[in-house]
Amino acid sequence: MRTQVGIVGAGPAGLMLSHLLHLEGIESVVLEAHSRHYVEQRVRAGVLEQGTVDLLIETGVGDRLKQQGLIHRGIELSFGGRRHRIDFSNLTPGRAITVYAQHEVIKDLIQARLEAGGLIHFAVSDISLHGLGTSTPAIGFRKGDELRELECDFIAGCDGSHGISRASIPARALKVFERAYPFAWLGVLAEAAPASEELIYTYHERGFALFSMRSPKITRLYLQCAPGEDMANWPDARIWEELQARLATSDGWRPAEGPILQKGITGMRSLVAEPMQFGRLFLAGDAAHIVPPTGAKGMNLAIADVRVLARALAEFYASGRRELLDRYSATCLRRVWKVQRFSWWMTSMLHRFDA
Ligand code: FAD
Ligand code: DHB
Repeated sequence: MRTQVGIVGAGPAGLMLSHLLHLEGIESVVLEAHSRHYVEQRVRAGVLEQGTVDLLIETGVGDRLKQQGLIHRGIELSFGGRRHRIDFSNLTPGRAITVYAQHEVIKDLIQARLEAGGLIHFAVSDISLHGLGTSTPAIGFRKGDELRELECDFIAGCDGSHGISRASIPARALKVFERAYPFAWLGVLAEAAPASEELIYTYHERGFALFSMRSPKITRLYLQCAPGEDMANWPDARIWEELQARLATSDGWRPAEGPILQKGITGMRSLVAEPMQFGRLFLAGDAAHIVPPTGAKGMNLAIADVRVLARALAEFYASGRRELLDRYSATCLRRVWKVQRFSWWMTSMLHRFDA
């Protein structure tokens, strides 16, 4: 098998890269460890920034987003039971955030790629990267009982924080900056109409809590918990009690309750790997950097990376010029460090470090 760009991982970074390359007439093949069903149901991010929304719409994958996405022109920050609204319309030239689930973006991108004849191999295993320092890199993988090799011009490592791409770079060629936080998030999806129109980020003496949503019928909520927390310690009644205690405001507002449809625990880390390139391997998204979710930046950053990478690859294939490819890491890292700082700041402002 041969392609121009071999992409490891069918998350937002890998799928968007494959879509952008296709629009530039560049071939790619995506290799994903999980099944299509799994990646299309995996509950994760929910907040898309304007740049992400604009790109999805401009590149023809924004139809459902335009119909179903909830546009928010501000957020609320709550301290001591009092809310303070941050009005994006007054503070930015008309920019907004859109609430639209990450797995819906994944569905839209997979559909677009498959309709355009794109190749995505789901449920592959034993992925290994070879020849990264040569002009003929390759990806080894197993599909069913068969061992295969995908030869490419370039490899995009879009396989998230636990993938093999970053780990395939020799330690001497990579500088990793990392910080772990002494807490995690317990997230729930509840069948309850959102009781507020906007997101509410809450600092409370019992710990952080976040009120968000997915649709006019589904509320998304998070609360700060211990990093190694066992979900067995959190029956639904305890989750609601804790959410009510933290989110209730002094004017009597409280979140509406309903059956909990899904729950999970997410660790909190900041990580940057520099540079985001080794030979013909380019890292993008969570494979290169992780931010704590408080700033809602991770998926937006992943999309921003692959936009830069797609442009650089397009220039290379059109003219043979490598300048943009050579600058890929430095260009992305400028944004990455700003976003790291913002995410750390927002995390520090809203969490109890001694809870
Ligand atoms: P991923 O989405 O992790 O995709 C990587 C893909 O690679 C996966 O499909 C994985 O199965 C696959 N893979 C892994 N290893 C291999 C392998 N060896 N071989 C083949 N495939 C492999 N971000 C926001 O912007 N806004 C938010 O509101 C937000 N909220 C969040 C809330 C929570 C609770 C969490 C956990 C995250 C949140 N994020 C948010 C972050 C966001 O979800 C991630 O930053 C985003 O998924 C990164 O996209 P990615 O494509 O780089 O990686
Ligand atoms: C959501 C997730 C976030 O990390 C955040 O900061 C805001 C909202 C969400 O899943 O809705």
